[in-house]
Amino acid sequence: SLPVENVQALASNNLKNIPSRYIRPEAEFGAVSVDESLQIPVIDMSKLDHDDELEKLHLACRDWGFFQLINHGVPAEVVEKMKIDTQEFFNLPLEEKMVCAQLPNHIEGYGQVAVVSQDQKLDWGDMLFLLPLPAVPSRNMRFWPTNPPSFRETVDKYSMELHKTMIHLMKLIAKNLGTDPGMLSSLFEDGTQGIKLNYYPPCAEASKVFGIAPHSDSTGLTLLLQLNEVEGLQVKRNEKWVPVKPIPGALIINIGDMIEILSNGEYKSIEHRAVVDPEKPRLSIAALHYPIRGTPIGPLPDLVKANKAMYKTIPPEEFLRLKLSSKLDGKRVLDQIKL
Ligand code: SIN
Ligand code: FE2
Repeated sequence: SLPVENVQALASNNLKNIPSRYIRPEAEFGAVSVDESLQIPVIDMSKLDHDDELEKLHLACRDWGFFQLINHGVPAEVVEKMKIDTQEFFNLPLEEKMVCAQLPNHIEGYGQVAVVSQDQKLDWGDMLFLLPLPAVPSRNMRFWPTNPPSFRETVDKYSMELHKTMIHLMKLIAKNLGTDPGMLSSLFEDGTQGIKLNYYPPCAEASKVFGIAPHSDSTGLTLLLQLNEVEGLQVKRNEKWVPVKPIPGALIINIGDMIEILSNGEYKSIEHRAVVDPEKPRLSIAALHYPIRGTPIGPLPDLVKANKAMYKTIPPEEFLRLKLSSKLDGKRVLDQIKL
């Protein structure tokens, strides 16, 4: 990907007018209005052994593709430490963060979301992207900060806990879809986990930029933690954007493209975006869970008995390649692989 300016450094100059590469055309904002009257569903993980909560989960996955998960079982101290170390990393001087800078032909490291063309609009945010799993044969520790000193251990613990929660959810999702829980979860047990730390600086022209432009996730499941009280995530619902109001301690879960395919379209990978604040930085941590490499992904056999398969079967690596090139022509990859 092409090198891009560090946004945190750019924002620290207190520019009145920000560079035009970040300013989105009016149409990208105006076409769809914000609906403050709705909220994404809340699911209580401690109640998911009851059928009514399980049904709530099913409806959340089917009708929203997004929900907040409370009582998720990730120890509060693991979450708290992850928040503290993330904040401390972004507080470091630029030169120290750049020790972990992205390199050509690597997706990990500190930098910006993949930039594929010179005239592409840019997101108002920096990120540190790591691949904690699979940990075997090896992690690429060159991109893992050693400052703050506890950072690596903190991410390691957080990564394991979120993987566990993800597998638990996969089994419940399989149950709700009426397919074998072991079969679905085995695709993700040894899958790829990305941890993406997002830092969105305040922006003097906040209403004209995106922290992250509208997209759907290529994952199976994404588990997002919001760090502070600054909101920004918005979810597409009935052609409007619904702002997410994070419950302290909750994880925000969304269905990714892989589950849309595996569920044969029963669950949808919903478009979402992040807006930025005019005065305060916003931070979030996304745990992105992809299937195991090398196994093609298609509608689960149990789910195409009554209906025909809605999507082609495709290796996840191939899907990611299509997704990257779709950034150039704006096509929705899920539509391209529809049967
Ligand atoms: C994302 O969609 O990848 C992150 C959204 C957020 O920061 O809330
Ligand atoms: Fe996302």
